[in-house]
Amino acid sequence: MADDTSIFIGASRKPDDSYQRAEQLLLQYGNRHGLVTGATGTGKTVTLQILAEGFSNAGVPVFCADIKGDLSGIAMMGTAQDFLVKRAEQVKLDPYDFQEFPVIFWDLFGEQGHPIRTTVSEMGPLLLSRLMNLTEAQEGIMNIAFRLADEEGLLLLDMKDLQALLANIAERADEIGSRYGNVTKPSVGAIQRTLLVLEQQGAANFFGEPALRIADIMRTTRDGRGAISVLAADKLMMNPRLYATFLLWLMSELFEVLPEVGDPDKPKLVFFFDEAHLLFDEAPKVLIDRVEQVVRLIRSKGVGVYFVTQNPLDIPEKVLAQLGNRVQHALRAYTPREQQAVRTAAETFRPNPDFDCMTAITQLATGEALVSTLEVKGVPSMVQRTLIRPPSSRLGPITAAERQKLIQESPVAGQYDQVIDRESAFEMLQKKAKDAQDAEEQAQQAGSGGSRWTIPGFGNDDPAPQSGGRRAPAPRPSNRQTVAEAAIKSVVRSVGSSVGRAIVRGILGSLSRGR
Ligand SMILES: Nc1ncnc2c1ncn2[C@@H]1O[C@H](COP(=O)(O)OP(=O)(O)OP(=O)(O)O)[C@@H](O)[C@H]1O
Ligand SMILES: [Mg+2]
Repeated sequence: MADDTSIFIGASRKPDDSYQRAEQLLLQYGNRHGLVTGATGTGKTVTLQILAEGFSNAGVPVFCADIKGDLSGIAMMGTAQDFLVKRAEQVKLDPYDFQEFPVIFWDLFGEQGHPIRTTVSEMGPLLLSRLMNLTEAQEGIMNIAFRLADEEGLLLLDMKDLQALLANIAERADEIGSRYGNVTKPSVGAIQRTLLVLEQQGAANFFGEPALRIADIMRTTRDGRGAISVLAADKLMMNPRLYATFLLWLMSELFEVLPEVGDPDKPKLVFFFDEAHLLFDEAPKVLIDRVEQVVRLIRSKGVGVYFVTQNPLDIPEKVLAQLGNRVQHALRAYTPREQQAVRTAAETFRPNPDFDCMTAITQLATGEALVSTLEVKGVPSMVQRTLIRPPSSRLGPITAAERQKLIQESPVAGQYDQVIDRESAFEMLQKKAKDAQDAEEQAQQAGSGGSRWTIPGFGNDDPAPQSGGRRAPAPRPSNRQTVAEAAIKSVVRSVGSSVGRAIVRGILGSLSRGR
């Protein structure tokens, strides 16, 4: 049955409903992506759970979002409930063992798991614009803002930094506009307001440091199992755009960070994208194109992406075409659109002469699905009516107390819990403004003396002579600013490469710049 080259999914059945054979997913093709679809209550989450279990047992780390909290049970040992035991018998899962899985809980809000953060610069202008639902013109300004931050060595870590940068740009709108075009005070103001709304929705938690280290979601345990990262997404779902943008960012980050591996024996990581329609709802074509591209290219990094959604029509065709392993649960077919969805779903399978796909999809029971996986040479298997195996871990949510205990015992405990607020654009711009003001006051003082000459030590020189006895050079109005700029230059040297990376980074940020 399940060996180390495959994951046991369940058992297919003959036309007379008797047992046919075990259905599995070959680990070798685990990075050829997948799709789990079905109407509500048909068994998608349980399918996700048994797939995640299978990957974990095979030593493959898993990242998944827990939309309703009902996936969290994967961290606890299952119990022999009658209907589960019966299902195990039906699919000839023998022995039916119970198991708890190594889970790391994450939460963008830091409540139901370790906080998960990234920096503004790592998120990049494209995804941020999507997150803020900016117009094309506003997106242009966002690009300029990032470029400027890069040129001027301003670190963009959190929302505060971005706000400060935008405020600074608004002040210098004329100068910047003449350099880059299309920057006006009101247009920057509009972005600032959108940013405020986003902050009020709690997105500020997500930006800052310490940022997520990808290695932390790619852990395995000492006994060789892949860690399952479960992202608490119930609250996050109230802001679907943040949810979708976050997962997209994570996907692009994985793409950036991981090396090419060609076709490994098993995936390096499997990524479940639940409620995947949110990724594509109202998404502009460029973004869809890039998602398509990331999905296509991330395969060679050994990452399998599994989309979970109600309706296969939710997924753009180009993306759909790349999803090799498919589990289609029941769909209803009352309305024309629903019928269309059933037809689309049916047509994507390699037909089985034993049954009519369209009819079967509407008649599948709970926890039953049409399954087709990639076989030898990556060819899709003939579709089979399959009873999905029961999970080994608990079905349904864990308690708050159980969750807290697991969070405390987690291998990343203490690493992300405290925000670190180091000097970045906000502080640097503040300092710069203050320095400029000082310089101006100084210039006025110098001016009131009626002479362009000053006598060192008589009150008109640098108001803050350095300790250590080194004399400040003769003060010019711009002197302090030069010092501030020098400081920034040194920051550029130390961090410039990472900021730069954010600007020309990755497929989701840089393709528009023709890399
Ligand atoms: N493979 C299975 N073995 C045993 N029971 C199952 C299986 N799959 C589903 N079930 C039963 O069906 C119920 C609903 O399944 P599940 O929560 O996976 O549906 P869903 O498609 O995720 O629904 P929703 O769209 O509402 O999230 C489960 O709580 C469980 O009782
Ligand atoms: Mg579900």
